[in-house]
Amino acid sequence: MPREIITIQTGQCGNQIGAEFWKQLCLEHGISTDGILEDFATNGTDRKDVFFYQADDDHYIPRSILVDLEPRVINNIMESPCGNLYNPENIYLSKDGSGAGNNWASGYSQGERICEDILEMLDREADNSDSLEGFNLLHSIAGGTGSGLGSFLLERLSDRYPKKLLQTYSVFPNNEDSSDVVVQPYNSLLTLKRLAKNADCVMVLDNAALTRIVSDRLHIQKPDISHTNQLVSTVLSASTTTLRYPSYMNNDLASMISPLIPVPKCHFISTAYTPFTSADADTAKVVRKTTVLDVMRRLLQPKNKMVSTLPTKSSCYISILNIIQGDVEPTEVHKSLLRIRERRIAQFIPWGPASIQVALTKKSPYIHTAHRVSGLMMANHTSIAGLFGRTLTQYDRLRKRNAFLDLYRREPMFADSMDEFDDARETVVDLINEYRACESENYLKGPADATTS
Ligand code: GTP
Repeated sequence: MPREIITIQTGQCGNQIGAEFWKQLCLEHGISTDGILEDFATNGTDRKDVFFYQADDDHYIPRSILVDLEPRVINNIMESPCGNLYNPENIYLSKDGSGAGNNWASGYSQGERICEDILEMLDREADNSDSLEGFNLLHSIAGGTGSGLGSFLLERLSDRYPKKLLQTYSVFPNNEDSSDVVVQPYNSLLTLKRLAKNADCVMVLDNAALTRIVSDRLHIQKPDISHTNQLVSTVLSASTTTLRYPSYMNNDLASMISPLIPVPKCHFISTAYTPFTSADADTAKVVRKTTVLDVMRRLLQPKNKMVSTLPTKSSCYISILNIIQGDVEPTEVHKSLLRIRERRIAQFIPWGPASIQVALTKKSPYIHTAHRVSGLMMANHTSIAGLFGRTLTQYDRLRKRNAFLDLYRREPMFADSMDEFDDARETVVDLINEYRACESENYLKGPADATTS
């Protein structure tokens, strides 16, 4: 029986990365852009049914809900060659169509008003599954819709489906990009509270790191969002391969994320990928010898990480899962793990097992790649607290000046007080402290004693 996963795409970013994800999944499973199985594709042993179901005429439909408060992005998707792929009943476009104006509070309030329609779609999809495992929310944390409406949906879903897993792929803003949303620290902080409290696992996608990789590693002169989204779709598809091409381990979401998250509060996962490929970059087409050891070593190098955090002296891995794709012998994996351990390349928490978990998985038979082996690292690393710390500092700076607060006061949640901001700040401080406490040898003995000023 498949352990189905329903994907919810919200806002511009969520829908754009979602569209890339489904395009990639169709390619990997030999499904045409109309949802029809290609002549060359066989039913095989893959598990398309985790992410797709079949209509009465057998064509494949994504288990996906597309939600936005303004029509442009979803209209573009519907007019694209993949437009026919989606179930039109699973698209929610707000009637007033003016978006959330990069305001978390507006996205959240509109969520309250329209949630019955969205929940109805989700319930229908859930009832359509045999053994629903959970939900994947795709969104950015910096705008108004993906962050505010996304936050509202996280709260409602954890209430309505308490036994189902809630995973998110959350795009963090590029702090170095001055043209990005000015109120992003407010929106990010308020969303972080829900990611901390309501999600079971957050896959962190950091636009700063993604942009750096596109320009420094792929040497693309004028990187734009389409290049960044190629990387995002690589992470999205690679992180779900073990679910779609199951072997004897890690073939459902719960078995994949539970060893990664030994401390429930610390559920923010960063990724690294190698070798990078891009249709637009000549350097990315250079084929090197790819052995498992090469891939595992490169995954641990900062330049391949998709989160822009600087490790400190005390920061360390809580856990690592490497998803290795390709034609690989288990003995090769075993030898590589031993070598990595001997070289002490990865620093682990002092109170838990210092081991890298490995999941071997097949490559799609329908896509030719020049590299024998590729790998995605999913890591729980305490330095992620630095990313939250940066959001906190930027928030404090804006809040001290009371800048742009009028935009938020217009919405009921903030009409009488700014308590919600203070509460979200406290949640984030608490999260940072928990990650810091994990670095201590005595972590299992007592409550967190680290403090954040
Ligand atoms: P409103 O526009 O206020 O209705 O909310 P929204 O959720 O639609 O906003 P959006 O998703 O555009 O969020 C803004 C943030 O997302 C900024 O940090 C952008 O850089 C980032 N962003 C927007 N689109 C994309 C995308 O396709 N890919 C990536 N990686 N980031 C994106």
